Formats: sequence, structure tokens, C-alpha cells
Amino acid sequence: MKALITAGGRGTRLRPITHTLNKHLVPIANKPMIFYALEKVAQAGIKEVGIVIPLGDKEIEAVVKTGSKWGLRIKYIEQTGGPLGLAHVIKISRDFLKDEPFLFYLGDNIILSDLSEFIKDFEKNKLDCLLALSKVKDPQRFGVPEIKNGRIVRVEEKPAQPKSDFAVTGIYLYNSHVFEAVENIKPSARGELEISDVHTYLIEHGRRVGSREITGWWKDTGKPEDLLEANQLVLSNLESEMKGEVEEGVVIQGRIKIGKESRILGRKTVVRGPVVIGENCLIENCYIGPFSSIGNNVEIYNTDIENSIIFDFSDINCEARIVDSLIGTNSLITSAKKTFPSGHKLIIGDQSQVEL
Ligand code: DAU
Repeated sequence: MKALITAGGRGTRLRPITHTLNKHLVPIANKPMIFYALEKVAQAGIKEVGIVIPLGDKEIEAVVKTGSKWGLRIKYIEQTGGPLGLAHVIKISRDFLKDEPFLFYLGDNIILSDLSEFIKDFEKNKLDCLLALSKVKDPQRFGVPEIKNGRIVRVEEKPAQPKSDFAVTGIYLYNSHVFEAVENIKPSARGELEISDVHTYLIEHGRRVGSREITGWWKDTGKPEDLLEANQLVLSNLESEMKGEVEEGVVIQGRIKIGKESRILGRKTVVRGPVVIGENCLIENCYIGPFSSIGNNVEIYNTDIENSIIFDFSDINCEARIVDSLIGTNSLITSAKKTFPSGHKLIIGDQSQVEL
């Protein structure tokens, strides 16, 4: 079995971060998001993976490389024509997929569970398509199955009035019948070839479409708050590791992972886990609270940080409390008290969000 992973799309809901970074490279607990998908695919015993990237994209390949790190062979497939929908992603990958069954995995989904049972179910029951479902509070954001007598009768994409409280997650299994569906469906009102229409097509044409509820948590990282929640979920399973240096007097509580060449200094410093701090960081007189991920080459002084993701090369020294925040690469945050005229001085990119 092969796998097809998405790394395209527009990432509009994650701007401004995605103005300069492919969404699938956003760090979650200091690891690019797409690595979680690659780990799950490798864990399921799959070796050949296609990653669909935006036309001309070089970023993903520069980070993921050949895939040998996970024992995978990766082919990069450019989505010519633009992000025309998930069914379009499958359509353009036909040469790579041939007529073999495959796992379709949306690269912005993060799951805890192992996919082996899911694959076994698909093979044992000789299904044409298997959908992974998860109960959600806000089905309007997802593909939603309508279920009658325990069977899915149709799937609606982002319905205003959902017919169940399940989301069809971004983890699917198909055999070659899916190509008939992607060739025959029409673009939706938003101009995309919708994966939900593929599912409805398969059901209406008598194909065997099964479903299985996903065990453990599942997160679609569409919005900034989803990234913070995914970061929390991954950090909840963090194992402590100490490669850096912690000065005497620094208070360390809970599970903390600190990368090499990093130094945690200052009698006032408290690091309360779960927290991950990357390599070559300097942290002095700070409170770094639960569910914070600090990237590589970051310096933080005299600042409290909680439940936030700080990307590489940021420099923070602001005598303030930063919570529930995403701070992009190379950002500088300093105290307004040190320079005149007093007041907040902001140089922020397009579509940024700041709460003062
Ligand atoms: O996460 C589950 C949901 O994913 C499903 O419940 C929905 O039925 C499905 O349509 C999808 O909805 P989203 O609105 O979350 O899809 P999004 O546009 O965020 O794209 C999902 C992934 O596919 C993401 O990795 C970006 C990538 N993508 C998307 C499009 C539209 C591509 O690579 N190319 C594309 O053309």
C-alpha cells in the first residue's frame, strides 16, 4: 500500500505565519507538522509516499528530504493548476498511485492512534473506501456523514445544518474506484473538487464505504488556536530530556525537554512543564509555563510565557506575560518602557493579530 500526503493548499486561516512558511512546516512541540503524518505512515508499515506540494514549492522537500529518516521513499508531486480541492489532489496523483489501494492523509491532521487496525479493517472487509470519523463539537467545519441504520448514506462538506456530530477526519483509505469518482464529480460552489462529494459519489454508485471511529485524539490544525491545542496534546506525552545546562537556583517542575547548547539561567527563572526548549537557546529570569514550545536559537529574558509556540531565532525581553501566542521566526519583542516616546511600537506584517 502507498500513502498520499497533502502539503499544499493556501493556509489562509494561519496567516500571517503562512505568508512565509508552508503551514505543514509549522512547528508543533518543535517538530514540523508534516513529520507527524510521516511518522504515522511509517508506523503503519507503508514505504512509498507521495507528498503533494504547491506548484514550485521547494520548502517541503528541503526539510523532509528523501524520507530515509523514516525508512520511506518519497515522491514530490506538484499540484499544477493551484489548490483546486482534495479530489483534485488525488486526480493529479494517479500516475504515482497506479491502481493500488492507498492511504490518503491530510498533512495538517495530527492523530495519536496507530493506523494499522484501520488498514486491517479496510483489507479484511474488502472495502472500496474507509473513512475515519471523530466526534466533534463543531461539525460545521468539516465533512459530515449522514448516518442511517448505522450506515453512511451521504457526506456533506461544511454543512450549515450537520446531520450528525461526527467529522470525517483527514485520514482515508481507497482502492482504484476512487478515480472514477474524482473524474465524475463537479466543482463545488467554492470552486473546489470536494472530497466529501467523492464519498457521496462512491456511496451512490454502490461502492463499499465503511467507517471507523478514531481512537484517542485527532486534531485538524486549521486555525491558530488549533495549533496551540495540537501543541498541548503532543506535549502532554512529552518525555523529559536534558541536553542543555540549567544553572543552580533555577526551578524546574514537571516534564521538560531541553536541547543541546541551551542555557537556562537566573535565580528568578521557573520552568514548569510540559515544556520543550530547542537547541542553542538562552533563557534568563523568566517564567516558562506549561504547554510552551520554544524553538532553536531563541533568547528570552525577563518575560513570562505560557501555552505558546515561539519559532526559531526569536528574541524576547519585554517584562510582560505572553500567553496563547504564536511568535514567528526571527521576531523581536522588547519592552516599551525602555525607549521614548512611551507606548507600543509595532512593526507587524499583513494579517497579524495583536492583543494589547
Ligand atoms: O481535516 C478534515 C477535513 O479536511 C475534512 O473534514 C473535510 O471534509 C475536508 O474537506 C478537509 O477540510 P479542510 O477545510 O480542513 O481542508 P483544507 O483546505 O484545510 O485542506 C486540507 C489539507 O489538504 C491541507 O493539508 C492542505 C491540503 N490541500 C488542500 C487543498 C484544497 C492541498 O494540498 N491541495 C488543495 O487543493
